[in-house]
Amino acid sequence: MPASSASVTPSLSDAAVRLIAEIDTALDAFVAGLDLPPKLKAAAQHAVLAGGKRMRPLLVLQSCDAVGGSMADAMPAAIAIELVHAFSLVHDDLPALDNDLVRRGKPTVHVAYGEAMAILAGDVLLSIAIESAAASPREPIAIVRELAHATTRMVDGQVLDTLGGFSECGSSDEAKLHRIHERKTGALIVASCRMGALAGGATAEQLAALDRWGHCMGLMFQIVDDILDETQSAEHVGKAVGKDRDAGKLTFPGVYGLEASRQKVRDLDRDAAEALRPFGERARHLNDVAHFLATRTR
Ligand code: IPE
Ligand code: IPE
Ligand code: MG
Ligand code: MG
Ligand code: MG
Repeated sequence: MPASSASVTPSLSDAAVRLIAEIDTALDAFVAGLDLPPKLKAAAQHAVLAGGKRMRPLLVLQSCDAVGGSMADAMPAAIAIELVHAFSLVHDDLPALDNDLVRRGKPTVHVAYGEAMAILAGDVLLSIAIESAAASPREPIAIVRELAHATTRMVDGQVLDTLGGFSECGSSDEAKLHRIHERKTGALIVASCRMGALAGGATAEQLAALDRWGHCMGLMFQIVDDILDETQSAEHVGKAVGKDRDAGKLTFPGVYGLEASRQKVRDLDRDAAEALRPFGERARHLNDVAHFLATRTR
């Protein structure tokens, strides 16, 4: 069960843990090698290297593997999506957005380096992400296009989440909630799968299947995040909790209740497995990570 007080801590497979170590090493080297003013570099490193779960780059590498590609094919795209994710978090935490002081158990970038530097660090994380994606050995233009498209949708979702403005999608809370989640969080997760597929030379059918799977994962990811915001301690998740409802945000537990939200996570886990059926045994790692994301508690 997501976000319950279950005594069993969900864990990733050994294979996924090894890939995450490779991702950390590659990210570390990429950011360390940048020619940036020292304070900007330190702020970018704080944003990138401070203990994230690395789920999006993991999805890039595993999607690439599912279509027969190698880690070297996918690593530039994996780094790129994590850099965009880091940028999105730095800006998400700013006083003008969620106004958060703690992330991954550490001070947020604007607390540690000041608001101006946090804005600029976010800017540079986005531009270096594009450089990394463009260094992909296969399909670099298609991969950069995916990254840019998803980033635009993420920003669109952040606008809706923070400022509203739903004139064109009807007035029900359910419709608004789906639109926010599909954009602010789902877009980067769908892009992770699509970029990995492109990097590995996917067929059109494989790309479509991973796109379907990514949509399930993206929605599931934010539903679980919403549940954790209501049910876990700040110490456990490493960021403030209980703020979404207070801030009047549209969340899954707020609109549907906690039990229905947990059921939706189980339904998405099942739908996701169905989308991967054509891959057979090659989807084993993706199925494992889906189950981890459905049951994670932080
Ligand atoms: C947090 O993402 C922001 C959301 C989209 C819900 P993660 O839960 O992946 O954050 P890190 O990278 O592991 O800290
Ligand atoms: C974050 O959603 C989405 C993006 C950063 C694009 P949240 O605001 O719910 O993420 P947390 O809870 O601060 O990590
Ligand atoms: Mg937010
Ligand atoms: Mg936030
Ligand atoms: Mg949240």
